[in-house]
Amino acid sequence: MEKGQTVIVIGASGGIGRVLSREFLKAGVNATLSARTKEKLDTLQVSLGSENTLVVPADATNPDDVLRVFTETKKKFGTVDGIVISAGTWKQLDITASTQEALDLAENHFRSIFLPSFVTGFVAQRFFREQGRGIIFNISSHAGLRPELEGNLTYGPMKAASHQFTLALKNELKGTGIQVVDIAPAIVNTDEAVGILDTEDKRTRAVQPEAIARWIIDEFNNPNIVPTKLFKSDITL
Ligand SMILES: NC(=O)c1ccc[n+]([C@@H]2O[C@H](COP(=O)([O-])OP(=O)(O)OC[C@H]3O[C@@H](n4cnc5c(N)ncnc54)[C@H](OP(=O)(O)O)[C@@H]3O)[C@@H](O)[C@H]2O)c1
Repeated sequence: MEKGQTVIVIGASGGIGRVLSREFLKAGVNATLSARTKEKLDTLQVSLGSENTLVVPADATNPDDVLRVFTETKKKFGTVDGIVISAGTWKQLDITASTQEALDLAENHFRSIFLPSFVTGFVAQRFFREQGRGIIFNISSHAGLRPELEGNLTYGPMKAASHQFTLALKNELKGTGIQVVDIAPAIVNTDEAVGILDTEDKRTRAVQPEAIARWIIDEFNNPNIVPTKLFKSDITL
C-alpha cells in the first residue's frame, strides 16, 4: 500500500477486521470501516481516529448497501483502491445434529458465509471495472480446503464456495487489470478466539492477524499477486 491510498474493510469491527483496519491506518492509507452494527464501528473509529477513517454501516449481502459503501468512500476520499471482505461467522456441525438443525445451519451459512463474499465481490468488480483498476481480497478459510477438519459439514463447504467464487471471479476479470485474491487462514489469534485458544502457547501458534495485514499491505500494488494465499497453523479444533 502507498500512503494516501484508500481501502474498504468489510467486517471491520470483527476480530480480524479490527487489526487489519488498525494496521492499514498505520501504513498511511484511508480506511472505510464497514459492518452491520454502527455502534461497534463508531467505537472502532474512536480508537483509530477519525481523520483517515469513514464509518459506513452496511449489510454485505445487500447489493444496494455495498454500492453505498463504495459511493460514500469515493465521495470522501476521491477513489477506492481496494476492498477486503472479512465478514462472516463460524459454527461447527457434525453428524450428531438433527437433520433439521443441519438444514437450518446450511441455509444460515449460505447467507452468512457465502453471500457476503459473493454479493460484495460482484458489486466491487463492477465498481472497479468502471474505475479501471482496483483489488479485491476475500478472506475465506483453510476450512474450505481441508475436508479432514472435524465438525466442518457446513462452514467448510460454504468457505470452499467462497474461495472458488473468488478464483472464478479472478478468471472472469482476466485482462481488465482488476486483481482478485483469496486469503485462506487457519485459526487466527483474535480477541474473540480466547475461548478456543485458551493457552498462551495456542495463541502464539495460531495465525497472527498482523501477519495477514502485513501481507496485504506489502502485496496491495503487486501486479503479479498470487491468486490464493494460505496462512497455516498446526492448531486444529
Ligand atoms: N478468526 C479465525 O480464526 C478465522 C480463520 C479463518 C477464516 N476466518 C474468516 O475471516 C472472516 C473474519 O473473521 P473474524 O474472526 O474477524 O470474525 P468476527 O470476529 O465474527 O467478525 C465478523 C465481522 O463481520 C461483520 N459481519 C458479519 N456479517 C456481516 C454482513 N452480512 N455484512 C457486513 N458485515 C458483516 C461483523 O459485524 P456485524 O455483525 O456488526 O455485521 C464483524 O465485523 C470470517 O469470514 C471468518 O470466517 C476467520
